[in-house]
Amino acid sequence: TTHKLLFLPGDGIGPEVAREAEKVLRLLAQAGAGRFETEHDLVGGAAIDAHGVPVTDATVNLAAEADAVLFGSVGGPKWAGVRYEHRPEAGLLRLRKDLGLFANLRPAICYPALASASSLKPEIVEGLDILIVRELTGGVYFGEPKEIVTLENGEKRAVDTQVYTTGEIDRIARVAFELARKRRNKVSSAEKHNVMKSGVLWKEVVARIHAADYADVELEHVLADNCAMQLVRRPKQYDVIVTDNLFGDILSDAAAMLTGSLGMLPSASLGAEDASGRRAALYEPVHGSAPDIAGQGLANPLAMIGSLAMALRYSLGMGGIADRVEEAVAKVLNAGLRTRDIAAPGQNALGTAEMGDAVCAA
Ligand code: NAI
Ligand code: MG
Repeated sequence: TTHKLLFLPGDGIGPEVAREAEKVLRLLAQAGAGRFETEHDLVGGAAIDAHGVPVTDATVNLAAEADAVLFGSVGGPKWAGVRYEHRPEAGLLRLRKDLGLFANLRPAICYPALASASSLKPEIVEGLDILIVRELTGGVYFGEPKEIVTLENGEKRAVDTQVYTTGEIDRIARVAFELARKRRNKVSSAEKHNVMKSGVLWKEVVARIHAADYADVELEHVLADNCAMQLVRRPKQYDVIVTDNLFGDILSDAAAMLTGSLGMLPSASLGAEDASGRRAALYEPVHGSAPDIAGQGLANPLAMIGSLAMALRYSLGMGGIADRVEEAVAKVLNAGLRTRDIAAPGQNALGTAEMGDAVCAA
C-alpha cells in the first residue's frame, strides 16, 4: 500500500522543521521501508496571505483524505492584527474540529543524554517514558453556557461549563487502554470525582470499560491534583495517563517540562475509527512557530521528527520503523549532538538541517 501524507508546514520554524521530517521520510522510502505519497498545502498565516483564511475547505478535505497530516506550527507577529476568527491558530482549531480529533497524545520521554536538562533531578526523570492521553474536543473549553453576564447589582458573573457524556468518556478511555496494551499495560485515570460530577461519571465509565473489555490492563484512579504532584515527585510510576481536556492541558504541559526542551516534544491528535478501522490523525510538534528564531536555521527538528515517528506508529502501521527513527534520535543525542536549545552553555550547536542529516545518518 501507498501511504498518503499531507504536510502542512505553516509559519515560522514550521517549514524549517517539516523539511527535516521529510528528509527522514525520503530516507525511509529509499530504504524500502514503505511507499509514501506526499502532498503539501498552506495553513495558518501562510494560508491567510494566499487565501484570506487560515485554512481552506480544500485543505480540510485533503487532510480528511490523508492517512496522516504532518502539521508544523502556525502564527507570528505578522498576523497579530487579523480578525480573531481568522487568526492563524484558527486553522488548527478548525482542522481538529472538522476531523473530529478527540484524542490528544502527548508523550513525555526523557532521553538519558538529556536528563540533566530537566527541571528535576536527573535520577527522577532519566529514562522517563509516559504518555498523556488528553480528551480534546469536550469539557469546560467547549461546554455551554459559556458567557459573562452582568447581574442586577452591576457585578459580572463568568460561566464556563464542564460537560462530558458517557460516549465521550468511553471513546477516550478505549484509546488509552489500547495504547497501554502496546506499552507497559498500565492506565492512570485522572479526574476530581471528590468535587465534580463530571469526575464521578468519568471514573464510573472508565471503570466499566475496563471491567468489560480491558481487565488485562492495570487501572488506577488518581485525583488530578495528586497526579500533578506525583508527576514532579515520582513521574516514572506512570505509563498512560488518561484525563479530560482541562486537566490534560495542564498535566501535559507540566510533564513536558520534565523532559528538557519544547523542541523535543511531539504530539498526535486522533479521530474516531470508521467502519474500516481508519481514523483521521494529525501529528505536530508541541511548540509554536518560534518567531524569535525563525528563518535562522536554528530550530530543533526533533519534535517534528518525533511526530513523524508517531504517525508511522499510529496511522501507518509501521511501529517497528517508528522505533528505528526514535532509536536514531537517541543515538544522535547520545553522541552529544545538540541544537542550540538543548546545548550546554558554550557548546558548539548544530543547525536545523545538520540535525536532520545527523538523524538520517544514524
Ligand atoms: P513557541 O513554542 O513558538 O516558542 C517558545 C520558545 O521556545 C521560544 O523562545 C522559541 O524560540 C523556543 N522554541 C520553540 N520551538 C523550538 C524549537 N523547535 N527549537 C528551538 N527552540 C524552540 O511559543 P510562543 O513564543 O508562545 O508562540 C509563538 C507563536 O506560535 C505565536 O504566534 C503562537 O500563537 C504560536 N503557537 C502555535 C502553536 C501551534 O502551531 N500549535 C502552539 C503554540 C504557539
Ligand atoms: Mg497548553
